[in-house]
This record gives sequence, C-alpha cells and structure tokens, in this order.
Amino acid sequence: MKPGWTLDDVDWGAFDPSKVDPNLLRVIKASAMIEFNAPDYVTYLKNVFHDDDLMKEAAEKWGLEEEQHGRALGRWVQLADPGYDFDDAFRRFQEGYSLPLDTDQSVRGSRAAELVARCIVESGTTSFYSAVKDATDEPVLKQVAGFIAGDEMRHYKLFWDHFNRIDGPRIASFRERLSVALGRIREADGDDEMGFAYYCANTKPGAAAFDQKLYGGSYEYYAKGLYRPPHINRLVSMTAKAVGVNPQSFLIRTVSKLTCYLFQRRLRSLAWVAD
Ligand SMILES: [Fe+2]
Ligand SMILES: [Fe+2]
Repeated sequence: MKPGWTLDDVDWGAFDPSKVDPNLLRVIKASAMIEFNAPDYVTYLKNVFHDDDLMKEAAEKWGLEEEQHGRALGRWVQLADPGYDFDDAFRRFQEGYSLPLDTDQSVRGSRAAELVARCIVESGTTSFYSAVKDATDEPVLKQVAGFIAGDEMRHYKLFWDHFNRIDGPRIASFRERLSVALGRIREADGDDEMGFAYYCANTKPGAAAFDQKLYGGSYEYYAKGLYRPPHINRLVSMTAKAVGVNPQSFLIRTVSKLTCYLFQRRLRSLAWVAD
C-alpha cells in the first residue's frame, strides 16, 4: 500500500489564519495525536497476527500512512497555533494512555472480529475527515482532510480484504460481527482515548485532572457537530457492509435516518460543554 501523497503535495502556502475555527482546531489537535500514535497500533496488530506475514506487512504500511496523517495534521496545527507544543502534549498523552501491547490475542475476541473492528474504525475516520473537509473554509485543512479521507477509505478496503482472505465471513457469524460493530461504536461515543487526547492537546501541564465526561464530551460535541447527512450515510453504509448487511437496503436507509436523528439528539445533550 503505497502512500498516494506526501506532505510535499500539500499547498502549505495557501494557509489562511482568518479561516481557522478555534473549536475545529481543538478537535484537530486531538486527532493529530491519535494518528501519530499509530506505531503502538502496528505493534498490537503485529502481535495479534504474529504468524500472518501478509497482515504484518500490511500493518507496517498502514501505520506509516496513519503516522503521515499525524504529521500533516500536526503541521497544520502548528500553522494555526504557532505557540502549541505538540511534542509535550503527545508525551503527556503517551504517559497516560496505552494499548495492551503484551498480548497476542485480539481484544475483540478473534482475528476476524479484530478486522471487523478495524473496518468500523476506518468507516469512522473516513466519514470524519470528509466531514472536516466539507466543514472547513481553511484551504490547507480542506486539502489535508481530503487526502486523509481518501486514505482512510483505502484502509477500510485493506482490512476488509484481509477479513475475506482469512475467511472472516465464515468464521465470524453475523451476530458476532454486529456485536463487535456495536461495541466499537459505543466505545467511540464514550472514547477514553479521544477524550484523553483532547485533554492533553487542549490543556497545559498541571491543569485540572482529566475528566472523561468533560473532555470526552467536548471532543464528541465538536467532532459530531461537523457531520451532515451524507457523512452519516457513509458511516452507516460502510459499517453495514462490515457487518454483512446490504448497505443499499431499506433497513440501512432507515438506520441512516435514525442515526442522523440520534446525532442531533446527542448534540443537544452535550451542548453544556460549549457553555
Ligand atoms: Fe488516519
Ligand atoms: Fe486509517
């Protein structure tokens, strides 16, 4: 999987500070950290697939692309907020949050379930960066988010192809796939990792202790607020495919509409974080 772009392909000179939205900046600071933390995920995936050379090789290349996302977003953040100390924020994040790297078992229960969970994550990231691209008027972020959204879509396909290669549809029942997907979606909603990244990225060392409700809620509020129906439709149909349901079906069109409603309801319940 060759990266389709590099940092040199971004027109950094087009940066327009007047178009930076401070709330979006906070979200992008957190996203840059999560992306930059990809080497830990590569280690985890290589442990889980320790005797699968194809998957290990794919994980290495995937990790390089995710790291590049972190570097590109980090560079944009530096333009938008020149005083921001990314290295210090990232150090705090790594000190306080870690993946289970000393296991060769997937936290999802099986390799097939792990690949379904990876597809759900990539559905989330491609829809998120598409939403960022459409929401921002800042030209450099728009370009970077577009590049990243394309990569995340290809990552989905990568994990989906490996799921099929290891005979995932036979190994993982519909019920198991659905349960992994719902579990991963629930985690994304109350995500400690994103909340903690948001906290480290947007507070100074020595700030009040991490509060998941506040920082996880803030991240979710500003990130979810970017989504419009086409982004939600993309998220739902990619998730449906990973679970094994026809994305074009009446059921999934209905679930998409329901998800749009639930997003709005959730945003209303989180509005307190903006006060
Ligand atoms: Fe990424
Ligand atoms: Fe990705």
